[in-house]
Amino acid sequence: MTDENLSSHLAELDLSPSPELAAEANGTEALYAEAEADPEAFWAKQARERLTWAKDFDQTLDWSEAPFAKWYVGGQLNAAYNCVDRHVEAGNGDRVALHFEGEGGDTRTVTYAQLKDDVCKAANALTELGVEKGDRVAIYLPMIPEAVATMLACARLGAPHSVIFGGFSAEALRTRINDAEAKVVVTADGQWRRGKAAPLKPAVDEALAGDATPVEKVLVVKRTESDVDWTEGRDVWWSDVVDRQSTEHTPEPMDSEHPLFILYTSGTTGKPKGIFHTTAGYLTQAAYTNSVVHDVHPETDVYWCTADIGWVTGHTYIVYGPLANGATQVLYEGTPDTPHQGRWWEIAQKYKVSILYTAPTAIRTFMKWGADIPAKYDLSSIRVLGSVGEPINPEAWLWYRKNIGNDTAPIVDTWWQTETGAIMISPLPGVTTLEPGSAQKPIPGISAEILDDDGKPLTDPEAVGYLVLTKPWPSMLRGIWGDPERYKETYWSRFGDKYYFAGDGAKYDDKGNIWLLGRVDDVMNVSGHRLSTAEIESALVSHPSVAEAAVVGATDETTGQAVVAFVILRGGAQDDGDATVQELRNHVAKEIGPIAKPRQIMVVPELPKTRSGKIMRRLLRDVAENREVGDVTTLADDSVMNLIQQGMGSGKED
Ligand code: PRX
Repeated sequence: MTDENLSSHLAELDLSPSPELAAEANGTEALYAEAEADPEAFWAKQARERLTWAKDFDQTLDWSEAPFAKWYVGGQLNAAYNCVDRHVEAGNGDRVALHFEGEGGDTRTVTYAQLKDDVCKAANALTELGVEKGDRVAIYLPMIPEAVATMLACARLGAPHSVIFGGFSAEALRTRINDAEAKVVVTADGQWRRGKAAPLKPAVDEALAGDATPVEKVLVVKRTESDVDWTEGRDVWWSDVVDRQSTEHTPEPMDSEHPLFILYTSGTTGKPKGIFHTTAGYLTQAAYTNSVVHDVHPETDVYWCTADIGWVTGHTYIVYGPLANGATQVLYEGTPDTPHQGRWWEIAQKYKVSILYTAPTAIRTFMKWGADIPAKYDLSSIRVLGSVGEPINPEAWLWYRKNIGNDTAPIVDTWWQTETGAIMISPLPGVTTLEPGSAQKPIPGISAEILDDDGKPLTDPEAVGYLVLTKPWPSMLRGIWGDPERYKETYWSRFGDKYYFAGDGAKYDDKGNIWLLGRVDDVMNVSGHRLSTAEIESALVSHPSVAEAAVVGATDETTGQAVVAFVILRGGAQDDGDATVQELRNHVAKEIGPIAKPRQIMVVPELPKTRSGKIMRRLLRDVAENREVGDVTTLADDSVMNLIQQGMGSGKED
């Protein structure tokens, strides 16, 4: 569709909520006014109505030490109790919590009663392995029910978990384990990826080798029956230790502000940031948003969030939100095209999925594969669709609604971050008249603005500025693990300490909708995954042949952005063309993980720098995106760009 056809098609569509949906939806127009009138009272009500407290709180928000927030001060609760036990106590033990679908076709149905038993056994096992309240536990597991049980077991004990995505390398694992000083690692022998067993335990062995490690025990789930090395005294099998435990375990109430988890994410420097979240505020907003934004009705819906639990989306919208609400969901281990390109739709049909939450990059991939693939399946159960991780282009939005959403399902384009913990800007199903491509407006209880360079609020349509959040919110990050200064500096200094600086560009349209325009810092968004240019640059320069490296995120039709690297080789290092490029790509995969592999690496004689020595990434992005190179007047040596362009065309992806 041309842009013109697309806009006229959009203009003809009626995207106001259907009366049926409006009548049934959890979200209402009235919520906006209620939250606006008294935000703290609003959030107090959400916390009391949605969660079960061991002890009620005395104060909703303590912002006296801003930007270090305390929510629900004086309250006590247990997150695992809220996610499992209370549903069983309420008589819903037979309700399915997880419809697990393994990549190879193995399935497991886990009811809330079984999940409670699994969580209790895992909590008893972790206790036997020496885990106490406050200790950190690293989790490096595939998308299997044990991952969910382990996270909740940690929550039950008050031992913050740090989940590390299974696609990260041993080196990335080592940095994260050491930074969090994890006492125990829970992993598996391997995971199923595209029909093959991909190893996990060897990466843990490598990450713990060498220098002193904080890790005392490694608990290993048998998933792929692969041979693994074994360190006696340190390594134990899940089947030996967890299976024999009692299903009884009394959850200890935690303080509202007790740390629940640490999750590492990429920032603008090479070192990943350990974003940490605490118990009550996080759980409140997770449950609230899953209810009003995804519109989950636990008695009738089958919900499916396709994210990996290694990312924040999996934390909030597979584990904590839906389970706190007592929802039934699908948990899928594999990739969308194994064993065939209709796998997701086959699963959606099988379980009669009614709410699907995924990323634009997946939708664009399905568009490439063709609408005839989902058309083979009965997707009539789908009634709400969600999108997360990057802006969704209107074309993908329309395809998603038409081919997956029966041409009727509302799409909630949800903007949020690892740091925000839960959804912040999104339409509400049954309430909002939708605007494809825009996340529209802050949900009830959340306040945002768009500021110009000088910190003045912008309101004119199309004026581009920086997105900020103007009030604290319950699921906000409480800091960067071990680095309070970096927290203040990164998020609360660009526009003073009253504004949370999100790092995203944004604008309003003439209807007052917010449009997110991508990162304004050196963070890239590849397939909805956050990667830092600095982190990949430092991986590249750690290779003996590389003297200098610059990385940019170039626009990519499917993945949103793609990693493109420019490298200068060391004197004496031989440029073997494709072999060099391949070696460097593999080196990045080894240092960080396959997700960070550059799509393209160009070996160049020089990098464009300002007189003060700063690399001008803007110009490199022009090259990477095949555009005419912009203004070069601030370059120390303006012939550099000619040199770089002459060398172009080498180092394309394989
Ligand atoms: O740039 C925004 C983009 O993803 C960033 C946050 O990445 P991460 O912490 O990994 O969390 C991803 C999942 C919540 C944001 O700063 N982003 C996320 N959702 C959207 C988005 N950009 C535009 N529209 C969205 N719906």
